[in-house]
Amino acid sequence: MKDKVVLAYSGGLDTSAAIKWIAEKYSMDVIALSIDLGAEKEYEAIKQKALKVGAVKALIVDAREMFINDYVFPALQADVIYEGQYTLATALARPLIAKLQVEVALREGATAVAHGCTGKGNDQVRFDVSVAALAPQLKVIAPAREWGMTREETIEYARRNGIPVPVTVASPYSIDENLWGKSIECGILEDPWAEPPEEIYTWTRAAKDTPDEPAYVEISFERGVPGGLDGKKMSGRELVEKLNLLAGLHGVGRVDHVENRLVGIKSREIYESPAATVLLSAHLALEQLTLSKDQLRFKQRVALEYADLIYNGLWFSGLRQDLAAYVAHTQRHVNGVVRVKLLKGRSTVVGRKSPESLYSYKLATYDKEDQFDQSAAVGFIQIFGLPVRTQAQAQGMEEDQ
Ligand code: ARG
Repeated sequence: MKDKVVLAYSGGLDTSAAIKWIAEKYSMDVIALSIDLGAEKEYEAIKQKALKVGAVKALIVDAREMFINDYVFPALQADVIYEGQYTLATALARPLIAKLQVEVALREGATAVAHGCTGKGNDQVRFDVSVAALAPQLKVIAPAREWGMTREETIEYARRNGIPVPVTVASPYSIDENLWGKSIECGILEDPWAEPPEEIYTWTRAAKDTPDEPAYVEISFERGVPGGLDGKKMSGRELVEKLNLLAGLHGVGRVDHVENRLVGIKSREIYESPAATVLLSAHLALEQLTLSKDQLRFKQRVALEYADLIYNGLWFSGLRQDLAAYVAHTQRHVNGVVRVKLLKGRSTVVGRKSPESLYSYKLATYDKEDQFDQSAAVGFIQIFGLPVRTQAQAQGMEEDQ
């Protein structure tokens, strides 16, 4: 009996070639596992393709709810954004794919898992590290890292082996999509000076083609988790799907980022992440209303570290789990509604309310309702003396010493 390997199968050229290549090179039975994270693909056709190319078994797992609830929303609660721009759609999906792969591998008695990543990106590391954390006994096979074929050679290899080469292969772009966003790289985008051609955008309209009238959405949060749109309760997945469409229609969520990969390369990536963009700013706005200054400031520091952990593939690390527990605790007061305006490529928070708001009108107002004792402010001057000393006074003090 041959050893078995579970391949994360996208249905694309590389992972299709990988089915054949692993079967030949390693003489293993390949089980193709396709995971639905919200990319609009024909999963049944993908399954058939895997079998046709030579997989002994092909499985599809719908992990959309799991992805949103167990990966995306914890990241949203943490306010993570990598290097100030990237909402981490691809990076958040990798540990979940690895986890499901490991589960199938253990159930099927496989000795290895495989992925289609090259040796230059972050994704290979995310897969390898996640598998090592969850089931170190499993071997990881990475055909595209091992076979040393160029894209042309891969196409040639596919043709020789009767693997259908889809017309989309002619597209110069490498694309990864899930509910939290779309990542696009390669082709002309490899020149960081070149403006992204309009054709790459499929989730968002160009600002000039968006409606002239703004759309408003009210997002309700419970413990930092969005659970309603315009007063209507809905599942996280549904909410994200709806927001992707609506905010995309208004051109919200285009990101052009030259980022630092963990393997030491700078790469230029374009992202479309309408729902993520809206939800991250709405969530932060609600925290600004409901958390104390110190809670918020500390949380922002944690977010930087947390984003790096996710980007670097350390989702299953002890530190990431510890930070998740901290973040979850901070969310106990993050309840309320945020009002967002979508217009011409921008999403702007225009209102927020919460039963646990720390905002006090009576303290903030300049009107006659003002209850802030302004004479108390003199106390601040005693505590923070230096900023109000004149330069002359400050110099005089130095001379005294
Ligand atoms: N740069 C992003 C990351 O490392 C996305 C990687 C995948 N991008 C792609 N176009 N296939 O998370």
